[in-house]
Amino acid sequence: MTHQALLQLLADMSLEEKALQLCQLPGGVYNPEAAVTGISRYEVDPRIKQLAGSTLGVGLGKKGSGTIRAIQEEYMKNHPHHIPLLFMADIIHGHRTVFPCPLGQGASFDPDMTEQAATVQAEEAGLDGIHVTFSPMADLSRDARWGRVMESTGEDKLLNSRMAAAMVRGYQGNDLKDGRSLAACVKHFAAYGAADAGRDYNNTELSEHTLREYFLPAYEAAIRAGAKLVMSSFNSWNGIPVTGHPWLLKKVLREEMGFSGVTISDWDAIGQLVPHGFAADKRDAALKAMQAGVDIDMCTLAYTEYLEALVQSGEIDEKLLDEAALRVLELKNELGLFENPFRGLDDAPRYTDAQKRAIARKAVAESLVLLKNDGAALPVKGQRVAFIGPYAQSEELISSWALAGEKEHTVSLWEAAQSAFADGETQLRTVPGCTMLDNDTELARGHYQADDWDAQNEALLRDAAEAAAWADTVVLCLGEHHLQSGESTSRVSLRLPQVQQRLLHTVAAACDRVITLVFCGRPLELKQVSALSQALMVCWLPGTEGGNGIMDVLSGKVPPSGSLPMSFPYSVGQEPLHYDSYPTGRPKPASGWAGFTSRYLDCSNDPLYPFGFGLTYGNLSISPVALSANELTPDGSLTASVTLKNTGDLPAARTVQLYIRDVTGSRVRPVRELKDFRRVSLAPGEETTVSFTVTEPMLRFWRGDDTFGSESGAFRLWISLDSMSGDAAEFTLKA
Ligand code: NOJ
Repeated sequence: MTHQALLQLLADMSLEEKALQLCQLPGGVYNPEAAVTGISRYEVDPRIKQLAGSTLGVGLGKKGSGTIRAIQEEYMKNHPHHIPLLFMADIIHGHRTVFPCPLGQGASFDPDMTEQAATVQAEEAGLDGIHVTFSPMADLSRDARWGRVMESTGEDKLLNSRMAAAMVRGYQGNDLKDGRSLAACVKHFAAYGAADAGRDYNNTELSEHTLREYFLPAYEAAIRAGAKLVMSSFNSWNGIPVTGHPWLLKKVLREEMGFSGVTISDWDAIGQLVPHGFAADKRDAALKAMQAGVDIDMCTLAYTEYLEALVQSGEIDEKLLDEAALRVLELKNELGLFENPFRGLDDAPRYTDAQKRAIARKAVAESLVLLKNDGAALPVKGQRVAFIGPYAQSEELISSWALAGEKEHTVSLWEAAQSAFADGETQLRTVPGCTMLDNDTELARGHYQADDWDAQNEALLRDAAEAAAWADTVVLCLGEHHLQSGESTSRVSLRLPQVQQRLLHTVAAACDRVITLVFCGRPLELKQVSALSQALMVCWLPGTEGGNGIMDVLSGKVPPSGSLPMSFPYSVGQEPLHYDSYPTGRPKPASGWAGFTSRYLDCSNDPLYPFGFGLTYGNLSISPVALSANELTPDGSLTASVTLKNTGDLPAARTVQLYIRDVTGSRVRPVRELKDFRRVSLAPGEETTVSFTVTEPMLRFWRGDDTFGSESGAFRLWISLDSMSGDAAEFTLKA
């Protein structure tokens, strides 16, 4: 449809029809089986159901496409202007094929892989009739207590920016009319990840400088990559709920970032302006959200009930409503829905199942972060290998955000182990060792609690001790329950459940080669776990091909290559913890008396494992940094290089990271900031030179006078394999 035809359509629509284009109804209204965030069924007036512009959460059940076709047919038939219904859904890290959770993808430092995974997700969801995904989540995540860190790619703005942009490219492809693509909705704008004390939905208290410099860039990167929608977040920022915040949604988002697409509230976020204490009632909430710049009301029905009246009373200018409705129509048009309301449903897939699984398997292997490997415990050796722990046989390797993922299609570790070690020489055993959870957790009470919990665990532990004594190597599979991370899963403890800790002690006492795998959606406290294990590897929530991807690394077929996308603390008391912190006026000395310096009495300032850290199988030696020049001019560039050599006997793969520190600034600069990164793979004995180009725009920041720009002076630069190691080279930026 031409723009002119869209304008004509808008002119022909009644006020009610235009207002209802801005109403999003939960999928349960159209399909009782649709479920999203636990809410499945809504009854609404049939007229609203007929005119609402969009819905969410349909197309995720087993029936998939059949349902969307039937709903669309019925809807189109009765809509006065035959405007198609828009179907949105949370396709977060997989639709049918589930990839590692976003935090795991962050660990790969491989935006190309993430882009490819997103094309698979778009194809699968598109073929089921879905049009829009509520992804990427570009929220900077610095606090491991916040359960939604699992949905982010971590604590660094550059990594998040590249990953968010890669997802948008992957979902949207080159042509949104192609039914195998999805329009991307970047969320949760803005600063949702900075929830006070890591408690979900909580207020965020950030200076404008911190917001602009650290929290906004990844949303902006997604917008630059062409994201068609932006979701406003639940939280308030410095006391003003974002969903009613015109400065954020109009000035920053539209004027400064140039976003011209559709804005949508998060679920019921307009209604929540009332309990926030910002709007007097639902009518007032509709008024404030509309004036702030929220186009679509996700599931509050505030716009449905009050928008028409607000325009009629003159409180809202009809022009504002028209602009918002036109943006929704434009999105439908860009998706090709006016030509084909059944977009995607009749298209042929590009990927075979085997291809999708291969991509997912590679993504898993790349996401794994090896934290310890004493005595080259990995790759797995020995003739008797016992897989012990609640994750050994579990198919729950997907997350609460893989809404259409079916655990029956997931390859468990045990299943994968049997084919990976089918050499006839390795004997395998498996026992669960303990329950996944302690009996007293809220989750256990809701789902699994049993009266004989303790007796069950005693018996499981006895079997585990026996299996561990039998084995040369134990692969101990521990972790958070898969429902312990995701939305509304904030925690004040980052420890493994007591039953799992007991299992670890028992196994470690019985076997002297314990390889511990930790499944999690957030950084955990792993000091004890590390001390009692010869090898330790973080596996996140790896998805459908979890077992196979992990086994590729355990067996030595693929070297581990992941790097931590978030710092792993010694103690939860260090949170929020991130590598790019500011220096203080009283830095803790490297050695000697530390009294009256910035420190904890009972814990290191440093993390147990820093951002960017990870090990591989080969042995990577890295040369000192060579700079092409010691001075940089604003229009020039310099090259920083290192030579990496694999001096080990096994293949090596890692991400090489470029960090810079501006030594003195009108606003204090972080101790290090990631400026670029590149993955490398080296065969034994192989060496390579990795070079990064440094230019002036990379040195810009939100200066003391509240403008973006660089400042001349001294800089330090590291090229290293994590955010804390390496020796700095120095250069100067000339004015
Ligand atoms: C609430 C979540 O915050 C958001 O991320 C999600 O996209 C919506 N619900 C829709 O399910």
